[in-house]
Amino acid sequence: KRSTVQSLLASQELDREVLVKGWVRSRRGNKYVQFIIVNDGSTIHTIQAVASAELFPEESLKDVANGASVAIRGQLVASQGKGQAVEVQALEITVLGKADPETYPLQKKATSLEHLREIAHLRPRTNTFGAVLRIRHALAFGIHQYFNDHGFFYVHTPIITGSDAEGAGQMFRVTTLPPEHPPRTADGSVDFSQDFFGKQTNLTVSGQLEGELAAMALGSVYTFGPTFRAENSNTARHLAEFWMIEPEVAFNELAENMDLAEDFLQYLVRYALERCADDLQFLNDQYDQELLSRLRSVTDNAFQRLTYTEAVEILKAAKQKFEFPVDWGTDLQSEHERYLVEKHFQKPVILTSYPKEIKAFYMKLDDDGRTVRAMDVLFPGIGEIIGGSQREEDYDKLLARMAEMHVPADELDWYLDTRRFGTVPHAGFGLGFERLVLFVTGMGNIRDVIPFPRYPKNAAF
Ligand code: 4AD
Ligand code: MG
Repeated sequence: KRSTVQSLLASQELDREVLVKGWVRSRRGNKYVQFIIVNDGSTIHTIQAVASAELFPEESLKDVANGASVAIRGQLVASQGKGQAVEVQALEITVLGKADPETYPLQKKATSLEHLREIAHLRPRTNTFGAVLRIRHALAFGIHQYFNDHGFFYVHTPIITGSDAEGAGQMFRVTTLPPEHPPRTADGSVDFSQDFFGKQTNLTVSGQLEGELAAMALGSVYTFGPTFRAENSNTARHLAEFWMIEPEVAFNELAENMDLAEDFLQYLVRYALERCADDLQFLNDQYDQELLSRLRSVTDNAFQRLTYTEAVEILKAAKQKFEFPVDWGTDLQSEHERYLVEKHFQKPVILTSYPKEIKAFYMKLDDDGRTVRAMDVLFPGIGEIIGGSQREEDYDKLLARMAEMHVPADELDWYLDTRRFGTVPHAGFGLGFERLVLFVTGMGNIRDVIPFPRYPKNAAF
């Protein structure tokens, strides 16, 4: 029976026969003995197999090269060398799949993250991406754990939708009409009534609106699925395809929404610190020696809460020169968000009460009529990690906001039913999953925390 590298390294039971399978990271040695380093993805660590020249003449090991897959049977023994507690004294080595050292793209010497992005199909085999992908998995698991423990129900919202949930016009179209000669109506425009769904459809930008429907029935719900934005943002924090977690809670108002966001984020960072200690230590040592202390600063400090208006005052008084000027009414840029978090408060920040003009149509108007009950959570190194709000639950006010913002009410008639029948105050938010993984891993670019990133001019694989 095969053992994982992870279980062998943790094993107290020595001097027994084991079988390990994985990929060779390196082979070195002398004419008496060869050391084969194997990783199988179960952990950042490797196991060393020792092959004596008596059992394994040089010639028999010629295909045991970096990148080849192997099965090694042998005795698990205490290691003589430093750096590992146990090793495998090899009795039988089988090469399952060769990797030609001349053409294998992941050579031993360090390869840049930029270059690895070009060979994204192979990069999970590196230490860095193995660590990132294990942490990504743990965070996804922790998200479900948190909500399940708190009485939330996981709802699945559609990927193909007929509406624009954010009203921002950043949608990818879904169509089966022929691009060359699509059918046209009498006035010459494309006739979408002949399309697959009989209307224009697109990939979802957010599951929120459907999530609100579910919250009006189940109370506390969350979505966790892929979302798509055709925004031409070539930044280290934007993807065209990203995963979003969107809790929505009936009867919650803004303060409870903030409490939920803060507790949830602290839980997730703590979860990763506990479950992914080895991978985080590796990333800390390899790239960013501040990583672990930054993570602990999030779990150990209450988030700073203030209004957009107060934030604008702070930014205007700041000594730092910003590329984009700040004035009440303009959206904050990531340089402003990061100034507040990293320089001014030196802890995560929750900003509330944004001007209504720069936020989505569904947010609840404050009493002053100028601001809405929005909340953005800002994190060090990231800027906005969560965007959310209390929702406008009043039918007439919502309809008026939609008209003001040119959001077509007829397309969202189903959504308006939540306000027609048994409406209640409710609130929710969206956490960008890759921004969370970016923060927890300390990687510098969001393209490096999702296996197959989608961004402008890039959809290889
Ligand atoms: O602020 P956003 O646009 O809010 C919504 O979509 C709401 N419907 C959420 C809700 O209230 N249910 O997006 C939410 C979060 C952002 O804070 C950010 O973390 C992430 O989604 N996000 C992106 N992540 C990667 N690439 C992009 N292009 C992103 N756009 C938003
Ligand atoms: Mg936002």
